[in-house]
Amino acid sequence: MFMKYFLARTQPSRPQRDSWQLAWSGLLLAVSLTGTPGAQAGEKNMQPATMLQSYQKECAGCHLAFAPSMLTPATWSWVMQRLDKHYGTDASLDAATTTEISTWLQKSGGTYKRVDAHPPNNRITESAWFVSKHRKVSAGVWARASINGPVNCAACHTQAEQGNYSERNIRIPK
Ligand code: HEC
Ligand code: HEC
Repeated sequence: MFMKYFLARTQPSRPQRDSWQLAWSGLLLAVSLTGTPGAQAGEKNMQPATMLQSYQKECAGCHLAFAPSMLTPATWSWVMQRLDKHYGTDASLDAATTTEISTWLQKSGGTYKRVDAHPPNNRITESAWFVSKHRKVSAGVWARASINGPVNCAACHTQAEQGNYSERNIRIPK
């Protein structure tokens, strides 16, 4: 399962593969999670106050609707201009819907603290803040069938759909 996931992520040729590998080896080196979950982090809602309907409809079918705040407007525009080559799959939409979602993402992008200007491979999951926040999650944990990699936020963040990533709502499945 781990190799399958690993291969799926490495197959499409993408720019900045080196930094991706760097981030990945960082995860491989990370130790198992030892901390006890607390409730110190603020119960912040990462989703914007109002969710664009077409974003919820078109961008939450294959994975959850990622919080727009987690990528900069520039990265979102990169993503929206290449929906036909979407991280190794085709997620194309008609021109009107693409423009609508793209315009909305321009307004709501980049508000999470320390959001990277240009994360490796234009991925939330390879952003420096993401790698740092998840440094205690070992490669073995990411590879679990119940999790299947870092993109599946909701596997561990039980309130991810609602934009809540606080520690008290984290349950790491076996
Ligand atoms: C046909 C399925 C599909 C649709 C529809 C889709 N995506 Fe994706 N998306 C994927 C796949 C597959 C990946 C890569 C998953 C992986 O690497 O594990 C991905 C990854 C992503 C990532 C990067 C995640 C990371 O690693 O940080 C972003 C951002 C993203 N999608 C945004 C969108 C947006 C915005 C839309 C709507 C316009 C959308 N997706 C619609 C399949 C889809
Ligand atoms: C393997 C389970 C797992 C998955 C999958 C996962 N996370 Fe996390 N996440 C964690 C853990 C564990 C922490 C660290 C909690 C701590 O020690 O503070 C964390 C922390 C975070 C934080 C910081 C919360 C805070 O209050 O500081 C954010 C934001 C976050 N994750 C977002 C995401 C997003 C977005 C995704 C999907 C793209 C994701 N996570 C996928 C387990 C996971």
